[in-house]
Amino acid sequence: MLSAERNERLTRVGPGTPAGEWLRRYWHPIAVSDRWEGISTLWQCSRTVSFEGERGTAESWGERLGNFEGAPMRVRILGEDLVLFRDGAGRPGLIGLHCPHRGTSLEHGRIEERGISCCYHGWLFDIEGRCLEMPAEPAHSNFPEKVRHTAYPLREMGGLLWAYMGRDEPPVLPRFDVFARTDGVRTVENYGLWPVNWLQICENSVDQVHTTILHGGAGGERRDIWGDEMPRIVWEEETLGIKSSADRPERGNRRASYYVMPTMHRLPQPWPGGRIRWPRFSANWRTPVDDRNTLVFAACFTPEIDGRLPDLPDGVTFDVTNSIRVHREQDFVAIASQGPVFDRATERLATSDEGVILLRRLIERGIGDVEAGRDPKGVLRDIEEPDAVIDLSRIAYDSLVEIAAE
Ligand code: FES
Ligand SMILES: [Fe+2]
Repeated sequence: MLSAERNERLTRVGPGTPAGEWLRRYWHPIAVSDRWEGISTLWQCSRTVSFEGERGTAESWGERLGNFEGAPMRVRILGEDLVLFRDGAGRPGLIGLHCPHRGTSLEHGRIEERGISCCYHGWLFDIEGRCLEMPAEPAHSNFPEKVRHTAYPLREMGGLLWAYMGRDEPPVLPRFDVFARTDGVRTVENYGLWPVNWLQICENSVDQVHTTILHGGAGGERRDIWGDEMPRIVWEEETLGIKSSADRPERGNRRASYYVMPTMHRLPQPWPGGRIRWPRFSANWRTPVDDRNTLVFAACFTPEIDGRLPDLPDGVTFDVTNSIRVHREQDFVAIASQGPVFDRATERLATSDEGVILLRRLIERGIGDVEAGRDPKGVLRDIEEPDAVIDLSRIAYDSLVEIAAE
């Protein structure tokens, strides 16, 4: 049970809020890149989602807010309204949505070689938020130099665009295996707009009990393997987050996943029914849109072994969107029905919620670190090889794929 005050402290994402400032110390994926030429999927979810009073589906809103197509695109991240675009040289930019002149939306802006110009009076901004031109001002005016628009750094990695929205020097963009390895097939998956606060979706990642119950019925692709056996779960704090081990000894299944700060869940991803003995890794990332909406991105990576990939039987694909569709819909219903921002003063936590309690404790510690001017857990700076791939498969494993992985 959490007081209303602690609940707010943990959930709110806007600038100046405790969790909002903590989240702003990390890079977040904000959209599937238009330059990605690999496999990308959009999770089909027909559940109705209202965003800004307009109704759509989780899938359609996810596509509108999280699939960049190159033209200036309106996005909202961490409660801030922004425009995502590429300048004429192809460099991606993320700047404030409303023009600092008189507020026109820059989603209607025109792309020029050096940036984006506002459709109203032509003020031209580069990807760093500098104003380069004011066509109607006298030629000798130094007013453009005095206007600096909000702008955030962007990077491209693994088919996604990543943004850093802190005000300090960005840390290293961590090259986690699923996003950065190149010796295999990567799929980038957009799981749409979920009409709930980010923390509810993240708490689901350290709630291993739900897998047997919620996914135990129709469509539970691991039911054949897991049966009704409740997992024996151990949650441990790790360097970057929480390792959750969920073993089912009667069924001979050992499994562990890694929750990586701030919102990533790195999973071993056995193939449907455990039929193919080949490693497959996935990661889900929850990017807060605002307090009540979250975009969910995922990537899945299948490595080559001895230079080759598995032969896939009919109906099995490299992405996981199809194979976990029912899982995701079950998670969606369970999480969305807690309410847009779950009131944790009403909950009654049990022993199986130890992982949820640990996650909240680590986030609260991270918020405290940021308030004290320290980097929170999982922020990487001054690391020896910033370009090296960070292998998480030693922590996130599943005995169903262990043999092939050795
Ligand atoms: S409102 Fe953008 S240039 Fe005037
Ligand atoms: Fe689930």
